[in-house]
Amino acid sequence: MKDIQSYIDKNKDRFVQELTELLKIPSISADSDYKKDMLKTAKAVKASLENAGCEKAEIYETPGHPVVYGEKIIDKDLPTVLVYGHYDVQPPDPLELWDNPPFEPVIKNTKIHPEGAIFARGACDDKGQMYMHVKALEYMTHSNELACNVKFMIEGEEEVGSEHLGWFIERNKEKLANDVILISDTGMISKDTPSITTGLRGLSYIEVEVTGPNRDLHSGLYGGAVGNPVNILAKMIASLTDENNHITIPGFYDKVEDLSSEERKKMAEAPYNEEDYKNKLKIKDVYGEAGYSTLERASIRPTLDVNGIWGGYIGEGAKTVLPSKAFAKISMRLVPGQDWKEITALFKKHFESIAPDAVTVEVKPHHGGYAYVTPIDNPGYQAASKAYEKTFRKTPIPQRSGGSIPIVSLFEKELGSKIILMGFGLDTDAIHSPNEHFGIWNYLKGIETIPYFYKYFAEMTKK
Ligand code: BES
Ligand code: MN
Ligand code: MN
Repeated sequence: MKDIQSYIDKNKDRFVQELTELLKIPSISADSDYKKDMLKTAKAVKASLENAGCEKAEIYETPGHPVVYGEKIIDKDLPTVLVYGHYDVQPPDPLELWDNPPFEPVIKNTKIHPEGAIFARGACDDKGQMYMHVKALEYMTHSNELACNVKFMIEGEEEVGSEHLGWFIERNKEKLANDVILISDTGMISKDTPSITTGLRGLSYIEVEVTGPNRDLHSGLYGGAVGNPVNILAKMIASLTDENNHITIPGFYDKVEDLSSEERKKMAEAPYNEEDYKNKLKIKDVYGEAGYSTLERASIRPTLDVNGIWGGYIGEGAKTVLPSKAFAKISMRLVPGQDWKEITALFKKHFESIAPDAVTVEVKPHHGGYAYVTPIDNPGYQAASKAYEKTFRKTPIPQRSGGSIPIVSLFEKELGSKIILMGFGLDTDAIHSPNEHFGIWNYLKGIETIPYFYKYFAEMTKK
């Protein structure tokens, strides 16, 4: 890796330019209007893999959005790294809160990113982080230093629950055979505190529909006598957590694996400043489950959040109406031990049971996934740790994240290997929010660090 620094220096403008082109395609998986752009993005990813040195790159149709697969097999006796990433992005709404259009990338400096950051939907999650692996491969191909076989599996449905990736994996197990799975789709603590994600939360995502009278009513003629679905939905949701912010669904915590007090103590050593945390979010205080710290609430504890709630009149001015229907989208983040299908069923049963007879409720489960935790005493983690030590000159801190990549637990189950989460994003990068961005420093640091992972992983697993 002797000339990696100079290679990056020489090519960094092009690396940024190529990512910019990819970010211009609105690959919004949730919205069927963008189906063509999904395919266009898949094709661009495929071409980039070929340019970076993959001998084979293909687009695989699924019943949903296509999967891009590429590989460079140099020696059957060497270990194989499977890189996973996603080329789809979250919808950019609300558009009016973006300082620049979400699919017209611009580079701007920020306090945290004085070297510049690329602002666009998908800049960090996950096009930018996925593309670091493509450019790392380009470097290793160029310098003839690729130390492992490499396979890429880049999907287009992560942001909508990876519905068809299981389908793809089931049909292509042999093709996907590997010794370790490498993913950059998470974050790190800060630019001078590298960390490796050792856990992800699971998820159960549900939509509820509450129906009262068979039509919208005059809120003067009927108000007070007929159940208002919006009022009732608000009450039902409020009852899902108690005064300690514990979730009240019977059985919800039964299978939660608690951390030992040593593990919690270790967690509390991670650098964290609550004042900073509050200041960055412009909140006067944090809020959450009694008995747990902010870091714990956002990683090792399960949650229940309303993601959206609507019903009745929301247009300009006032309309007096007692709406017929109310809706909400609710997500529960889950932790190791909890089975998302079981939790979904518990939610449904409980939610139906607390509805008064004045309304009927329909509970519609969306997607879900299991939590994931990885031990650090395996060659994959150790190789990643050494790679960060090399490029950051600091030992990375293992850290459980609160986010979810629901398909990760399936990878281990179906493909039998460990998943290493080398994320280079920052919490402040505004993923899923307006003005998402990715620091150019982070982008280039990722490109620099990844080749060392291959080198050390090959050394550590030598037969
Ligand atoms: N890359 C994120 C997950 C993530 C981000 C994990 C930062 C850890 C740190 C992923 O694209 C994502 O957004 N996942 C969704 C779940 C999915 C089913 C929509 C999530 O966590 O909300
Ligand atoms: Mn992602
Ligand atoms: Mn995401």
